[in-house]
Amino acid sequence: MSRNLRCMVFVMVLLAGQAVAQQAPLTRIAFGSCAHQQKPQPIWDAVLAYRPELFIFTGDNVYGDVTSAAMTELREAYAAAAKIEGMAALRAQVPVLATWDDHDYGQNDGGGDFAYQQQAKELFLDFWRTEGDDPRRQRPGVYDAKVLGPPGQRVQIILLDTRSFRSPLRPTDERHALGKEAYLPDPDPTKTMLGEAQWAWLAEQLHRPAELRLLVSSVQVLAERHGFERWGNLPLERQRLLNLIAETGARGIVIVSGDRHIGALYRLSENVPYDLYEITSSGLNMAYAHNKDIGPLRLGEVYGLDNFGTIDIDWRAGEITLAVRDIGGKAVRGVAIPIAALAP
Ligand SMILES: [Fe+2]
Repeated sequence: MSRNLRCMVFVMVLLAGQAVAQQAPLTRIAFGSCAHQQKPQPIWDAVLAYRPELFIFTGDNVYGDVTSAAMTELREAYAAAAKIEGMAALRAQVPVLATWDDHDYGQNDGGGDFAYQQQAKELFLDFWRTEGDDPRRQRPGVYDAKVLGPPGQRVQIILLDTRSFRSPLRPTDERHALGKEAYLPDPDPTKTMLGEAQWAWLAEQLHRPAELRLLVSSVQVLAERHGFERWGNLPLERQRLLNLIAETGARGIVIVSGDRHIGALYRLSENVPYDLYEITSSGLNMAYAHNKDIGPLRLGEVYGLDNFGTIDIDWRAGEITLAVRDIGGKAVRGVAIPIAALAP
């Protein structure tokens, strides 16, 4: 079967939103975040050379913070992104999935109270070529999930929406201070990261059978002690997620995130049913070399230059490799994990 035809079959499977038994198992997944449409994006050459079978846009896929309901900035951002050669080539050749973060949501650090979220959602769904009967067109938010691959080699991609329902965050009392740069943890039990409908949906998703699950959250889940956006801004919600993973017994979870303008790997081993790993890749062209990350759970150093992330799956060896890759495609941070270890 030609590569294009294989891609087409794959896309049809994606669009059908179903696992199909005959489908070849996924072995190479790439992802990335934080791609500014007004800056060059040379990284796509390396992404394409990696030959991903799937690419996941994990948020801040464009920068289009808006100033009015006309949504001009976001509309123009998507129009400019569509013309970027490398991104266009990727979108033509590789099946893609996407969720959003604040800058393609339309408001810096925006949450559930953002007035224009419905307009932003329509632009998002159109840009990402979402079908008219897609469930995301019927329900609030852009969360979504797919199971890809044959039984025994299924990869579930869970795309969370950490914007549409999120409660206001508690502002810092010491702006730019290390560890409290913008926000302070807020243990208010009435505050939510996902909203009740998405929490219920996520519980259902974690009960679906899959050997491997990529839990995609635009903002970091495991990373602790920095004062930028992360699940730890709402520590009870972070704990709720860890509890849900334990209660459902869902195996095979790896957390995938972006947003932070660095690449890094994290592992949480305490009070979890099995070692939880998180791979953060950010940005595709918006990395900040000066970004600090106190990072008690981090594996190795942060990577401060532009990067993308990959998940290589060796089904025969029963092993996955998470890697942060530089703009030449070289793995600059990585960890190999036996799939069997990702189970209670
Ligand atoms: Fe962000």
